[in-house]
Amino acid sequence: MGKIILTGDRPTGRLHIGHYVGSLRRRVELQNSGKFDKIFVMIADAQALTDNADNPEKVRQNIIEVALDYMSCGLDPEKTTIFIQSQVSELTELTFFYMNLVTVQRLQRNPTVKQEIQLRGFSDSGEENKAGTPVGFFCYPISQAADITAFKADTVPVGEDQEPMIEQTREIVRKFNSTYGETLVEPEIMLPDNAACLRLPGTDGKAKMSKSLGNCIYLSDSAEDVWAKVKSMYTDPGHLQVSDPGKVEGNTVFTYLDAFCKPEHFAKFREAFIGKKVSFEFNSLDEVKDQYRKGGLGDMMIKNFLNSVLNDTLEPIRTRRKELEKNLPYVYEVLRKGSDTARAVAAETLADVKRSMRINYFDPGVLEALIKEQEEKYK
Ligand code: TRP
Repeated sequence: MGKIILTGDRPTGRLHIGHYVGSLRRRVELQNSGKFDKIFVMIADAQALTDNADNPEKVRQNIIEVALDYMSCGLDPEKTTIFIQSQVSELTELTFFYMNLVTVQRLQRNPTVKQEIQLRGFSDSGEENKAGTPVGFFCYPISQAADITAFKADTVPVGEDQEPMIEQTREIVRKFNSTYGETLVEPEIMLPDNAACLRLPGTDGKAKMSKSLGNCIYLSDSAEDVWAKVKSMYTDPGHLQVSDPGKVEGNTVFTYLDAFCKPEHFAKFREAFIGKKVSFEFNSLDEVKDQYRKGGLGDMMIKNFLNSVLNDTLEPIRTRRKELEKNLPYVYEVLRKGSDTARAVAAETLADVKRSMRINYFDPGVLEALIKEQEEKYK
C-alpha cells in the first residue's frame, strides 16, 4: 500500500494567507517531495452546502476561486488530483453506510462541530425564527470520513481545528473493520510544522482570519491591497513612540513574520520606505525582535519589512493567478479530469465496502452463490 494524501477546503470564499501558511504551502511541498504515491485535493462543495443550503450560488462561484488559488500556489494537476466533492457520488453512498457506525451522542461531543453550531447560531432551535442545526451539517464529520477513506488516504494534512474530524474518521475505520473485516485504512493527521502557522490571526489581531470580520489578506489581493492591510495591522497598543519598548508576543506583525520570514529576506530587504528611505540593518528575526523589545524600532519599519516579505511570497502567486484567470477552460478541464479520476478510485473503495458488508448482491459470482444459498432454504 502506497502513501496517499487526501485533504481539501470548503469553497465559501477566496483563500487567504492563513490558508497558505496553514495548509497550502505544506501541500505543495508534500506534492514535490516525491514521498507520496497519490495526492488528492478536494474542493468540498457538498460540505460547504451543509450550512449554505440557501446559498448554493456562493458555493458555485467559489469553486473556481479555490481552484485558481490552489493552482497559483503551485498545486500541479500533473502530480495532484484536484477534484470537486459533489461530482463523486460514491462519497455520499459511503457516508450513508458510515452513519450507522456513529451515534448522535458521539457527534454531539465533537468539539469542532459543537463550536461551529454555536458560531452559526444553530443551537437556538425551538425559538421563533431560529433554524436549528441542519442534519446534513451535524453529520459532516461522517461525510469527511467518507472523503478520507474513499481514497485510502493514510495522511491528512489539515489544521488543528480538523483534529476531531480525523479522530472521528479513525473511530469509524476501526468500527467498520472490526464489524465487517479489514477494509479501510486508518488515517493520520499531519499538522502544520511551524507553531505560528497553527492559526494565523487576523490583521486586527483577532484569533482567526475570517471573511466576515474583514481581517484577511487574500492570495488574490493586489500589492496595494496588501500594503493597505499591513499598514493598518494590529501591533502592540502600548508601543506609542518609536523609542518605547515594544511587545513581540501577541503582536500580529511579528506573528506574520514568524510565519513568512526567511533568512534570505534580510539581505534582500535592507531598505525600508517610511516616507523616506531608511536602512533596515538586521540579519535575523531574533535581532529585529530584540531591538523592538528594547525600543527604537518603529511600527512602520517592521510593517514595511513585513510588506516586502509578504509580497516576496505573494507576487509569484499573483502572477500565476493572472495567467490562469485568462485560461478558465483549462482550469475547468483540470477539475473535470480530476473528478473523473477521483470517482474511479472512490468506486473501487465503495465496491470493497459493499463486498465487506456483503451487500454486493450482483457482483460476478456472488449472485450464483446467493441463489444457491437461498434455494437451500426453500428445498
Ligand atoms: N472540513 C474541511 C474544511 O473545513 C474540508 C474537508 C472536507 C476536508 N473533507 C475533508 C479536509 C477531508 C480534509 C479531509 O476546510
